[in-house]
Amino acid sequence: MFPQSPSIASASNVDILIVDDEPTNLRVLSTIVRSYGYQVRQAISGIVALRAVQIQPPDLILLDIMMPEMDGYRVCEQLKFNSETKDIPIIFLSSLVSGMDKAKAFQLGGADYITKPFQVEEVLVRIDYQLTLRTLQIQLQQKNNRLREQNERLKQEIEIRQQTEVELRRSEAQLQGRTQQLQQALDELKLAQTQLAQSEKMSSLGQIAAGIAHEINNPIGFIYGNLDYASEYMEALINIINLYNKYYPQPHPEIAKRIQVSELDFVLKDFPKVLKSMLVGAERIRDIVLSMRYFSGYDQAYAQQEDIHIGLDSTLIILQSRIKEQTNRVAIEVKKEYGEIPPVNCYSGRLNQVFMNLLSNAIDAIEEKLEVVEEPFHPIIKICTQLSNSSKQFQDKNTQWVEIRIADNGIGIAPQIQRSIFDPFFTTKPVGKGTGLGLFISYSIIVEQHNGQLQCNSEVGKGTEILIRLPIEVPQSLDVSTTRKVKIAPSSLSLESDIGEM
Ligand SMILES: Nc1ncnc2c1ncn2[C@@H]1O[C@H](COP(=O)(O)OP(=O)(O)OP(=O)(O)O)[C@@H](O)[C@H]1O
Ligand SMILES: [Mg+2]
Repeated sequence: MFPQSPSIASASNVDILIVDDEPTNLRVLSTIVRSYGYQVRQAISGIVALRAVQIQPPDLILLDIMMPEMDGYRVCEQLKFNSETKDIPIIFLSSLVSGMDKAKAFQLGGADYITKPFQVEEVLVRIDYQLTLRTLQIQLQQKNNRLREQNERLKQEIEIRQQTEVELRRSEAQLQGRTQQLQQALDELKLAQTQLAQSEKMSSLGQIAAGIAHEINNPIGFIYGNLDYASEYMEALINIINLYNKYYPQPHPEIAKRIQVSELDFVLKDFPKVLKSMLVGAERIRDIVLSMRYFSGYDQAYAQQEDIHIGLDSTLIILQSRIKEQTNRVAIEVKKEYGEIPPVNCYSGRLNQVFMNLLSNAIDAIEEKLEVVEEPFHPIIKICTQLSNSSKQFQDKNTQWVEIRIADNGIGIAPQIQRSIFDPFFTTKPVGKGTGLGLFISYSIIVEQHNGQLQCNSEVGKGTEILIRLPIEVPQSLDVSTTRKVKIAPSSLSLESDIGEM
């Protein structure tokens, strides 16, 4: 008994088709094969064989080659051509013994070749061998299929994971974007809040200044207005006293005594001087009041033609207390080199705020230098104005510019921080002294609200010059209420004047 094939539980389950045109051969072979427990079907020709296979594909075919009408080769060819029958093992049976015939049989897909007359054992061993091969092949295919299925499932899982990962990444990116947006909104809000606080501070400062100016204006008006009369009356009285002296050189002893006690000669000489200094003082108060009123024009809604020099002078008067001599330092000299410039269409209150920021920075820089230098130096703030036809830097030949330079011989700005000085909240000053908004706000007022330019040139130890360029014409309806994003101005530029020469 030959060994049982691994896939087939018993030989009785195995269906073998025997094809031979010789009925005797067919019968003998069938009897042998059947006697070993296999199920056998018979086909007397190639055509019958094909039909039998079509009805029920067998597990193996024993196929004679030499047959009329359709030989074994053609039967084999047709079976191999069909995807459903191509894997059925075919063992050729033939009395043809040439190598060519065998080669053809194998080329057409035959699994084996048995030469007639055959040995029964040989046939059975070969059948068994082919069945085992077929079973192994089926098992391999099944395994392959299972592997393919597992592979598919894995692929699907990987795809799902990849998709999930992509979605995760997308939602992470969205989240990051949202966080960034929120952070940006928060930053903008903080900035707007601080700007608002600054502008409210300026506006309430302006209101206080306007209020004080208004209150002082009337009394100073009385004083200033009456000083003329006082001078006139004083002159009249002095004339009369002089006449008395001339015509009554010997007055009553009581009057003579009073003249001596009162030091009349000194009074007569000093009185005009007193009145003169009262006039100077009153004029000064009047100037301060005017400056305060001018400076307080902070929240003006429309641009107007303004004299820049008045704005600069008003700001200087407001800052007078910081410029003059202090207990720990000498006075700062303010050099003015005002050129011939036309009125500029501008928001004067806002420009004054810029002048205030720049002059305050200049004073701070001088005070900082005074704290660190060994040898005494003469602190100077120089303010120059001039008209220029074109800007070297910007090559705009059609625009006329008013240039305002505010230079100091203070501490200067280190090159590595020059890029940052226009950034909001950038300050090198101690907490409580600087908010770091002065230059940021000034930049926004000059560049965004007046279409101007703001540049800085500085050298450590020598000083700093800030150049403002204002175009002569400014659009009337600038939206000044919006908070814009920060633009960083070019920090170090070659300016025409030399700070070192001050
Ligand atoms: N003239 C100057 N000389 C030297 N450093 C200056 C000068 N002007 C500005 N800076 C530098 O630029 C920084 C930013 O100036 P900015 O006016 O914006 O803020 P701040 O003066 O520090 O504070 P704030 O003006 O808000 O009170 C200053 O802290 C200082 O380091
Ligand atoms: Mg400042």
